[in-house]
Amino acid sequence: MIEIEHIYKSFDSSRGRFNLFNDFNLNVKDGTFSGIQGKSGAGKSTLLSIIAGLQKPDSGSVKIDGLDICTLSDKESAVFRNQNIGFISQEQSFLENFTVLDNVRLPSYILSHSKKQQDDRIITERAMELLKIFEISHLASCYPRELSGGENHRVLIARALMNDPKIILADEPTESVDSERTEAIIILFKELAKSGKIVILVSHDNNALSLCDAIVKI
Ligand SMILES: Nc1ncnc2c1ncn2[C@@H]1O[C@H](COP(=O)(O)OP(=O)(O)OP(=O)(O)O)[C@@H](O)[C@H]1O
Ligand SMILES: [Mg+2]
Repeated sequence: MIEIEHIYKSFDSSRGRFNLFNDFNLNVKDGTFSGIQGKSGAGKSTLLSIIAGLQKPDSGSVKIDGLDICTLSDKESAVFRNQNIGFISQEQSFLENFTVLDNVRLPSYILSHSKKQQDDRIITERAMELLKIFEISHLASCYPRELSGGENHRVLIARALMNDPKIILADEPTESVDSERTEAIIILFKELAKSGKIVILVSHDNNALSLCDAIVKI
């Protein structure tokens, strides 16, 4: 369960100081697939990064299963995020000198370092299984720069699912993916939500949003 209560967030920019969130509230229950809709600059990406603990609101609380993540230190927040949140960011962020397979395996290696030791073979099998689901297993030994935009987006989704997170935050995950594969990805998100996870999708695609259980307009 995610409970966002009374958050305020402002930015100082060349345009001056402006308030993006003024007493913003949102509750998201486990097992739901939610869509976030809003015009460019409305704050969709900022909201996801606040839920992921990458940015803190100026005030207010963001509770995940009762834990206010705004009270965590940067290090605690990074550990919490790696264990609980799969974040598919709007800008494609890869380790450019690592292969596709290594980029996808990375969250599991960080997890085994901080928590339970996982067998290298099991990690690789899981990564390859995800690459297969997203039809990119033939690209496992390539580098991100050698892939198309849509292929890289699918690598990002595979990486976000690697640690089987209970919360999946997807910021325009299918922007450069063809319509057939977009549908498959949205159906997968819906199935993940049915299995008890929280999936939050930011999208401008009304077809994708129509499959969500609820739509939040910001
Ligand atoms: N670090 C920052 N410093 C100053 N302004 C920022 C910062 N981050 C975001 N903003 C501003 O906050 C507003 C919301 O940005 P955000 O990226 O959340 O929008 P968005 O709804 O995701 O837009 P889009 O649909 O174009 O991706 C924008 O006006 C942006 O310029
Ligand atoms: Mg955005």
